[in-house]
Amino acid sequence: MTRILLLGGTTEASTLARTLADAGMDAVFSYAGRTATPVSQPLPTRVGGFGGVEGLAAYLQAENITHVVDATHPFAAQMSTNSVHACEAAGVPLCAFERPAWQAGEGDRWVHAGSIEGAVNALPDAPARVFLAIGKQNLAQFAAKPQHHYLLRLVDAPEADLPLPNTTVEIARGPFDVAGDTALMQRHGITHVVAKNAGGAGAAAKLTAACTLGLPVVMIGRPEVPERPVLGRVAEVMAWLSHPAD
Ligand SMILES: NC(=O)c1ccc[n+]([C@@H]2O[C@H](COP(=O)([O-])OP(=O)(O)OC[C@H]3O[C@@H](n4cnc5c(N)ncnc54)[C@H](OP(=O)(O)O)[C@@H]3O)[C@@H](O)[C@H]2O)c1
Repeated sequence: MTRILLLGGTTEASTLARTLADAGMDAVFSYAGRTATPVSQPLPTRVGGFGGVEGLAAYLQAENITHVVDATHPFAAQMSTNSVHACEAAGVPLCAFERPAWQAGEGDRWVHAGSIEGAVNALPDAPARVFLAIGKQNLAQFAAKPQHHYLLRLVDAPEADLPLPNTTVEIARGPFDVAGDTALMQRHGITHVVAKNAGGAGAAAKLTAACTLGLPVVMIGRPEVPERPVLGRVAEVMAWLSHPAD
């Protein structure tokens, strides 16, 4: 009997959850629990960490999981790394369902950064108005450049004081569109955009908007995770679920 653990937190995971539910497959959806009101899923859903590699391996055995699909965000490197090691330990096949990274196109003014620290360094020294489109994690590192005004777009209103002195917070949940993101950047007089190379359609609007407005984008490259099969389409995941060895 197939029983799937789907590690979620992305639009792609929600799309796959719908397909699994429609196909009547036995699957559990897992959220980290980072947002106050996560998107509800058409699958039984659990919320919260597993307790590292050992915790996840124990969960896989206790729940009789036969397949794991890691559809977490490409920057959720800890969860992805843990899932590789836990699946190895538990002897459960794993695949990642991941969107391809964005590529710069004509007219894009991208500066590539290998890390958050690299992105901080890539920002100018003179005061700028930065759309810091990286979610709520890793904000503190930008305190090294307190001269900038930072526009943050977050899913939930921050509960604690932000680690940056000069911010405007926009509360919104994607997907976003180009017209809206262009207007947002114009309204806030944005001069620079910082983005994680998440890939996918829902978060790409800011890049098109930046290109249209002629703004530079500091693009942070994806963190490395151990090797695992990576599939890019729902149909490929569905095929893998019936023949994981392929
Ligand atoms: N990082 C981003 O930029 C970003 C952007 C959009 C959405 N997200 C989503 O937000 C969640 C957290 O991302 P992150 O970057 O904080 O992850 P992370 O650093 O890779 O993971 C940290 C810990 O959070 C727990 N965790 C993460 N994803 C989980 C899931 N789907 N189900 C259960 N536990 C999970 C695990 O705890 P234990 O070790 O206790 O198991 C993991 O070790 C992920 O689901 C991701 O898809 C992340």
